[in-house]
Amino acid sequence: MGSAPVGRITRGTTGTNRLRRIDRWIARHPALRGAGPEPLVVDLGYGASGVTALELEARLHATRPDVEVLALEIDPERVRTAREQLENVRGGNTPFRPTARVRFERGGFEVPAPRRPTVIRALNVLRQYDEADVPDAWARMTARLAPGGILVEGTCNEVGRVATWVEVGADAAPRTLTVSLRLADLELPSIAAERLPKALIHRNVAGERIHDFLRALDREWERASALSAFGPAQRWRAAMAAMTDAGWPLRQRSRWRLGEASVPWDRVAPR
Ligand SMILES: C[S@@+](CC[C@H](N)C(=O)[O-])C[C@H]1O[C@@H](n2cnc3c(N)ncnc32)[C@H](O)[C@@H]1O
Repeated sequence: MGSAPVGRITRGTTGTNRLRRIDRWIARHPALRGAGPEPLVVDLGYGASGVTALELEARLHATRPDVEVLALEIDPERVRTAREQLENVRGGNTPFRPTARVRFERGGFEVPAPRRPTVIRALNVLRQYDEADVPDAWARMTARLAPGGILVEGTCNEVGRVATWVEVGADAAPRTLTVSLRLADLELPSIAAERLPKALIHRNVAGERIHDFLRALDREWERASALSAFGPAQRWRAAMAAMTDAGWPLRQRSRWRLGEASVPWDRVAPR
């Protein structure tokens, strides 16, 4: 066998439905929708259970029935657990399709895959590393991507209602930050500060761009409070329109209704 996987075993916390916001975003992404036949999607660091990898396949299958998911985990014990789960899936004893195109293997940031992945999803993995580890991890993972492929690296809370992620291109350059929030009962968008990707989580301080971005989100969300009567999605849309008017070049306008905001990386990058 080859050399040891790159990285280290960390806490395996995961949960059903936790990554739904990220999966739905990936399912609509042009990198996946425009990919050639049989696109490979890697789920790196799936944790103590294989459930979020199975959910990823199920969600992507709806838009790309030919998608294949390779789920990688650095902890061999967790690979064994997930393979047992997969046996149950194959036996038709779970809500997942018995034919789900998912495999569970051991691997790390070197991404041992039989062909180049179109997407790598690494959620809640780098969180337990140091900020200084991020560039190398991004470089290793993106070096494996298919041309036009993307790395989706981010963090969310336990139940997936507060999520943020970075889209990184095959050249290892970060492109956008997306914040995705459950709007019902949302007090302030800056709740996302606690769940920023590792590259930004220590940067939410005065003088940093991410700090300005989160403050601007809070300000416009509060100013749009009169629209609450029409529902939180209307209020979010109004707040995002005001962000745009104030000069924030937000992307993916059609996704505002979902409580999302995507901003070019250079507007939030650490100084
Ligand atoms: C907190 S869990 C996240 C599980 C799942 N992705 C989620 O968001 O619910 C992080 C997992 O990543 C694994 N991990 C950490 N570094 C890794 C690496 N370099 N390669 C593969 N897995 C890694 C850990 O062993 C752990 O099981």
